[in-house]
Amino acid sequence: MTKNIILFASGNGSNVEQICRFFEQDQTISVVSIYTNNPNAGVIQRMQPFGITVRVFDKSSFTDGTLLSQVRALHPDLIVLAGFLWKIGSDWVSTFAKKIINIHPALLPKYGGKGMYGMHVHQAVKDNKESKTGITIHYVNEAYDEGAILFQEEVALSDEDTPETIATKVHSLEHLHFAPVISRLLNPPSNGV
Ligand code: GAR
Repeated sequence: MTKNIILFASGNGSNVEQICRFFEQDQTISVVSIYTNNPNAGVIQRMQPFGITVRVFDKSSFTDGTLLSQVRALHPDLIVLAGFLWKIGSDWVSTFAKKIINIHPALLPKYGGKGMYGMHVHQAVKDNKESKTGITIHYVNEAYDEGAILFQEEVALSDEDTPETIATKVHSLEHLHFAPVISRLLNPPSNGV
């Protein structure tokens, strides 16, 4: 039976696009809906060629149970946060236990928590003269960026790297690994994820 995934994004949506491309020809996994909290998000335009509507929601529907009911009615096997910046409420976490995952643009537990998203993360990595950074894909629980880690990959940095080049390196890792990790999670190989 086809597994349904639902994507949440707040911005540009390059990860959303990559995930949709990856599963376009896959008979076992289907992107059934994409949601954004941002009416100006790049992801809305970006997804037009795919014929998948990006649904915009506001804060009240996110927190008062309206959106949660709507999403539950779609019977998602996995909810994927791909650059989604609002904190997930405990009602979502308990309704979709072990069914919400997030991608974070650093090697958690470093550079996680409130305010640590996008370029803020890469600027902090640069400020601290880190020799490496990377990506973390993890389950979502009630605390920002603290759910169980499913996957990490790192990339080396040099003194010449800027926050912008760090962002590019991290995005490349995300685009390479996010969809395959989702695929392995939903269709585990016999020897595990
Ligand atoms: C990604 O780098 C993702 O890891 C990050 O936002 C970017 C979205 O890029 N998420 C966070 O910082 C969450 N704390 P995209 O819109 O091009 O996919």
